[in-house]
Amino acid sequence: MAKVLITGANGLLGQAVVTIFSRESDFELIPTSVEPELFMDRNNSFNYEQLDITVKENVKKIVKKHNPDIIVNCAAFTDVDKSEFERELCWKLNVDAVKNLIIASRISDAKVIHISTDYIFDGKNGPYMEDAVPNPISFYGRSKLAGENALTTSGIDFVIVRTIVLYGVGIKVKPNFATWLINKLSAKNPVNIVTDQIGNATISDDLAYGILKCAELDVYGIYNIAGKDIISRLEFTYNLCDVFNFDKLLINPILTSDLKQPAQRPLKSGLITLKAETEFGFKPMDSKEGLQLLKYQMEM
Ligand SMILES: NC(=O)c1ccc[n+]([C@@H]2O[C@H](COP(=O)([O-])OP(=O)(O)OC[C@H]3O[C@@H](n4cnc5c(N)ncnc54)[C@H](OP(=O)(O)O)[C@@H]3O)[C@@H](O)[C@H]2O)c1
Repeated sequence: MAKVLITGANGLLGQAVVTIFSRESDFELIPTSVEPELFMDRNNSFNYEQLDITVKENVKKIVKKHNPDIIVNCAAFTDVDKSEFERELCWKLNVDAVKNLIIASRISDAKVIHISTDYIFDGKNGPYMEDAVPNPISFYGRSKLAGENALTTSGIDFVIVRTIVLYGVGIKVKPNFATWLINKLSAKNPVNIVTDQIGNATISDDLAYGILKCAELDVYGIYNIAGKDIISRLEFTYNLCDVFNFDKLLINPILTSDLKQPAQRPLKSGLITLKAETEFGFKPMDSKEGLQLLKYQMEM
């Protein structure tokens, strides 16, 4: 049975990957993260390992111990605004740690599946295909592109899965765009929502499913895995109001420039998923379908 080592298994995507891989594949899983225990392991049924991927020797030790065939990297420094100020930490996790995984992957000849983002683009002319020319406009975007470059120049077997505006539920995960909206709107708090950021928000289940296909199949290189409908944050919020029955009058449309955020955002973005759809039958949910699934998961 092939072995899959998962890093960042306590994050939003990490939990979705552990769930989908354990439900829909025969892979033996080795979930890892920085915390002493796996948040979602109610039955203690996994070979969980505590692993800080910025510590090269520990990454090598765990890979030597388990000999994985595949490494799925769900760990990252994901706070886009904080990345502008905590540059060293951001680089350590998004670039140097990816190099640690590359070095360790050579021990067991493992294929590395790494997650990247539309923030490697400037958002001037999206939506983007896999071969579009990157031009990051934030430190986070630069670090994620450098992580990609470490893989593309490494000579190891790799897949880079690019995604965009990830949402979903998980145990003790940070709020994401959808859960932040749900918290605010269910308490009848007004929200300022940008009209000029365009993209295809992605539910973590769809992304985890795309990653599973990248693990099962003999595919390598870059794949976009994202939601079906390329819409503005405002349209996404209106769809969320329809699904969750929230009052649309609580929504105040604004421009990204009004927010004065430390990091610049790509505006006209979006990821075209045609390659994954044609090569391995990836069928993304649109935002209403994704939000309906989210509602169901929150009620469980
Ligand atoms: N979220 C989005 O909108 C979005 C969009 C496009 C692409 N992506 C990419 O998708 C991937 C997954 O993102 P996500 O939203 O699931 O992020 P997340 O919820 O922040 O998960 C990242 C996980 O990595 C863990 N981690 C932090 N430092 C670590 C270390 N040194 N060693 C091992 N694990 C460490 C974090 O633990 P702590 O929580 O304890 O720090 C967290 O559990 C990332 O590569 C991200 O860049 C995300």
